[in-house]
Amino acid sequence: MNKLLKIYNFSNFKIKKGQGVFLFDDKNKKYLDFSAGIAVNTLGYNHPLIKKVLKEQLKTGILHLSGSQLHKYKILLSSLLSNLTNKGNIYFCNSGTESVEAALKFSKLWGNINNNKSEIISMQRGFHGRTYGSLSVGSNKYYKTGVGRILSNIKFCQFNNSEHLSKLIHPKKTLAIIIEFIQGDGGIYVCNKDFAKTIKKICKKYNILLIADEIQSGMGRTGKLFSYEHFGIKPDIITLAKSLGGGYPVAATIVNNKVSKSIKLGKHGSTFGGGMMQTRLAYNILKFINKKIFLKDVTKKGIYFYNKLNLLKNKYPNIIKEIRGSGLMLAIEFKKNYKAKKITNLFLKNGLIITAVGNNSVRITPPLIIKKNEIDLGIKKIKSVLDYYNK
Ligand SMILES: Cc1ncc(COP(=O)(O)O)c(C=O)c1O
Repeated sequence: MNKLLKIYNFSNFKIKKGQGVFLFDDKNKKYLDFSAGIAVNTLGYNHPLIKKVLKEQLKTGILHLSGSQLHKYKILLSSLLSNLTNKGNIYFCNSGTESVEAALKFSKLWGNINNNKSEIISMQRGFHGRTYGSLSVGSNKYYKTGVGRILSNIKFCQFNNSEHLSKLIHPKKTLAIIIEFIQGDGGIYVCNKDFAKTIKKICKKYNILLIADEIQSGMGRTGKLFSYEHFGIKPDIITLAKSLGGGYPVAATIVNNKVSKSIKLGKHGSTFGGGMMQTRLAYNILKFINKKIFLKDVTKKGIYFYNKLNLLKNKYPNIIKEIRGSGLMLAIEFKKNYKAKKITNLFLKNGLIITAVGNNSVRITPPLIIKKNEIDLGIKKIKSVLDYYNK
């Protein structure tokens, strides 16, 4: 009997080891992993690069250094992230929610010296974490209910509705817009070009900060290093976590120079942020991913996967409602009577790990190193569950 707090639907099997895109339980059952620890294990399991970096780091004898202690990898990773994004400055922390908390605090500090702006616009179906600040800008009411006071001055815009966004903007009071350009927890909804254009225009016109939450969609998952790149946008603040460390907890908030100037010494910090192990891993993983050939391959595999899922939709129109996504961040939405929880359990029986999202959808976020034949294997496993329903 485990003594874990019941905040998750725990699996009824115990995972023992992993290799490539596969996990094995303690009875040696093999699972194809289309979840990757929910968009984290980007290089899969037992990857030679990760093993090499961990071994090298162990040789230094160092596990932890404090926030003010500089080391090579904190410097290398920060300058690479800065060069690849908005040329800003980096705050390192440990999880997605922490990087969003920092983004909100940094925005507020900038707002104090910019007309005292304080209103934040977030998106319906948006998810940004579960601590009080990030919870406030998340739209899921269940997560927010009964936990006491959360941040005020937050408005929620219909995703992809430019007219609604224009109505919510207050030229003097709106401080920031926070958005996942590809919504993850909300069910994999992709921002359309018009909406992105409106956001860009409005932010420029009214001096509003744009916070791009790239925690799930970043680090190559959509075929670009960051999903905002699909829209020719340069956010003021970018939040990163999940796959940044390839499975090791590390997160970052990237703050452009304009906002950086309003953040003074001691205003924020983290004991574990920027440690040598995690920044060394993230730096090496970022270099590995940030290659044209790698990102092109993710795009190609994403299109292949998307087309295969659409073939299933055509074959089972009474079961599948819609296929959505970008790159290797995909969703299958099932018709109302088909419950995601039951379907994911059937997938599990069939040796396939997929995350349920909402009542009727599943989210597919495999390791980015997945091969076409492994996608085919997964499609076969999905098909056999659909066949079971169709009997
Ligand atoms: C877009 C997005 N933002 C923030 C978070 C929160 O990250 P964490 O669970 O590491 O706090 C998540 C986690 O799923 C996420 O998908």
